[in-house]
Amino acid sequence: MSTTGSSDSSPRPTDDFPEFPAGFAFGAATASYQVEGAHDVGGRGPSIWDTYCRTPGKVAGGATGDVACDHYHRYREDVALLRDLGVDDYRFSIAWPRVQPTGSGPANAEGLAFYDRLVDELLEAGVRPAATLYHWDLPQALEDLGGWRVRETAERFAEYTALVADRLGDRVTRWITLNEPFCASFVGYAIGRHAPGAKEGRGALAAAHHLLVGHGLAVRALRAAGESEVGITLNPDRLLPATDSAADLAAACRADTLHNAVWFDPIFAGRYPEHERETWGELADGSYRREGDLELIGAPLDFVGVNYYRPITVADAPRREADPALRTAVDIGVQESWREDVRHTTMGWPVVPEAFTELLVELDRRYPDLPPLYITENGSAEADTVAEDGQVHDADRVAYLRDHLGALAEAVRAGVDVRGYYVWSLLDNFEWAFGYDKRFGIVRVDYDTLERLPKDSYHWYRSMIGHHRQRH
Ligand code: NOJ
Repeated sequence: MSTTGSSDSSPRPTDDFPEFPAGFAFGAATASYQVEGAHDVGGRGPSIWDTYCRTPGKVAGGATGDVACDHYHRYREDVALLRDLGVDDYRFSIAWPRVQPTGSGPANAEGLAFYDRLVDELLEAGVRPAATLYHWDLPQALEDLGGWRVRETAERFAEYTALVADRLGDRVTRWITLNEPFCASFVGYAIGRHAPGAKEGRGALAAAHHLLVGHGLAVRALRAAGESEVGITLNPDRLLPATDSAADLAAACRADTLHNAVWFDPIFAGRYPEHERETWGELADGSYRREGDLELIGAPLDFVGVNYYRPITVADAPRREADPALRTAVDIGVQESWREDVRHTTMGWPVVPEAFTELLVELDRRYPDLPPLYITENGSAEADTVAEDGQVHDADRVAYLRDHLGALAEAVRAGVDVRGYYVWSLLDNFEWAFGYDKRFGIVRVDYDTLERLPKDSYHWYRSMIGHHRQRH
């Protein structure tokens, strides 16, 4: 496999690369369930995603993460790709059910040993490990006990964190407690489009809170282990009101509570969101909260990870007439849609790089106590094909990355303290409910042979990083 081959649309020497300050880190990201495969190897227990994928009708084409990219067995090849790419950091996630097959009790030595090997391989390749502790693969045994609806799951999460930190803490550079708790709670427990596929109102709000508590407890465990680069990855949204009518502005405010304030306010401003009553009505009774939770959740962090892909257009909409007593869904009276006047990726997402700058500047102004930012994910799913010359000329992805890195550089110039950028994703992988049809990788994965093929975007990113190094 050649990782250096060039092709027609590979970067030109004159390419207009965005400029970043010295010390800015470039990386690539993946997540355990999306790439590892080896679902029943090394004592790994089942996760809620194993169960969800086996529930008919939930995942496109009946796909599962059983094999995925087989990264569990091919991690050496993948680390070589990272080394040749020249990245500073690799963001990966640790599968809780590999470390604790049932979510509690002593560590499964074989599970931890995999991450031990991966971390050593990365360090040998000169790539710093950035580990996410929870990227949605909750041990099924914990879901059977209530999952994130119950506080005990947050306590188990802290125990798991301590086991991992004890083993890898001397070599992992950066720790990310949770990835996108918005998806883990609202998409998983209210909308039901992610595992565990629940459609509950109160359950989802309780899950959101318990994820935050779990984050706080994990931070405590990481500090106790002496870790000094600790953060969380959130996916704040740039919300565009459909019109400037009072109704649409109020809808945007409710959407802001759901997507942004519910996470940023307790973590970075020491408060619960101001508009939660207007947003959730009676569901926002806070009965799952305890005294002291805000202090726990708001423990100081060294950075915040931001995942950004696209803005959301928001309009007022009638609330569905579900009986509130049934508590079956989170309905905030909002219609979300995608801007139509721009290009869309194969996810149907609008490509609006300037919304990235606006989002970052807005966050920076709104939360004065925000720690430095890392962009822990950004990228696009495109309709890639292998051309006759055997290469993938993913010009749309190259344009997406160039424009979003440009928008990021703009935010840095506007004074936002951003320290790094990780492209999503190193590899094509299992895109949750969409299965394998959506390709986000800068490296193509042939799912029949599991062969890796760097795309033009890989070569472009590599040149960009090289250019940055030369400049500094
Ligand atoms: C965010 C998630 O963290 C990641 O798992 C997913 O693949 C990307 N978004 C793209 O949808």
